[in-house]
Amino acid sequence: MAIILAIESSCDETSAAIIKDGKLLSNAVSTQISMHQKYGGVMPEIASRLHTENITIVLKEALDGAKIKLKDLDAVAVTRGPGLIGALHVGLQATKTISLLYNIPLIPIHHLAAHIYACEYVKPFKFPLLSLVVSGGNTELVLMKKHLDFKIIGETKDDAIGECFDKVARVLGLPYPGGIPIDKLAKEGKHTYKLPTPLANKGYDFSYSGLKTSVINLVNKEKMLKHKINVADMCRSFEDVAVDMVVSKTMKAAKEFNVKQIVLAGGVSANSYLRSEIVRKLEKSKIDVILPPIWCTTDNAAMIAKLAEHLYSKKLFAPLSLSVDPNWKISDYKVF
Ligand code: KG4
Repeated sequence: MAIILAIESSCDETSAAIIKDGKLLSNAVSTQISMHQKYGGVMPEIASRLHTENITIVLKEALDGAKIKLKDLDAVAVTRGPGLIGALHVGLQATKTISLLYNIPLIPIHHLAAHIYACEYVKPFKFPLLSLVVSGGNTELVLMKKHLDFKIIGETKDDAIGECFDKVARVLGLPYPGGIPIDKLAKEGKHTYKLPTPLANKGYDFSYSGLKTSVINLVNKEKMLKHKINVADMCRSFEDVAVDMVVSKTMKAAKEFNVKQIVLAGGVSANSYLRSEIVRKLEKSKIDVILPPIWCTTDNAAMIAKLAEHLYSKKLFAPLSLSVDPNWKISDYKVF
């Protein structure tokens, strides 16, 4: 095997990690969340600037933590998409420089594929596998018949589920990122508000913009009538509908495609109701489930490193002319 340096800079975390023969030696993460909080979301230009400031710091921390020198590396891996264009460029330029200076291969990593592969830190994959990828920018059901083989069988037609959590939180006056306070408050509330479930019976695609608009309209209507919103009840009602939609389609697809394992991935996979519902529904089933460790639900380079080992073993490298792809589809992974 090999010593691989992995770098992640697709959104608001700058991270570097070192993996050696399957063992994670270090994972340095610098998060920008507090810098974006006052805007209620990630500001792309600020994100790029902060990545530029932080990249050498996390790189040094990862190398020192692993007691590895740049000259010891066998390869360098980087997220090339999807993500924010300026943010992705910072990581790519850093890895290209190291690849050129030390004459080592450059491994192109798909961010969402890496979120899925983060679950390999828990246990090995069993195929066919169905991954529910739920994040701030994506809501996808991905079928994998073997390693590095990704087929999207359903995806959101409009907003992503995480984006919906963030916007609902904002209208309720809760801080960014909204999934965390909603998850917490929902535990104290009851399902009292009636909300729609778009595309409930139609294939494996999702829709979240109607649900978001319903919550916004309901809150505004109650405000106009000078009624007090019960925030905990709204969180419970919203979370039930938002999560039940992904859980029911995941279960249906798992049966149809006869999968051996379900793997949760992405920021929203930290949601406690989603995690417990998936486990509960699979209690009497032969289908295995992998829940990512909470530290792996936020962006980090350890997950980039995990996937990088698979590409390294197959010698799937990229030329130095590689560019970023902010809209890279997971199903196009084989095309570099
Ligand atoms: O998009 P993502 O994987 O992270 C980045 O790329 O940085 O995850 C961020 C999303 C946000 O929309 C956030 O509100 C959501 O994940 N999130 C959650 C929870 N924790 C984070 N959503 C629901 N419940 C949670 N506990």
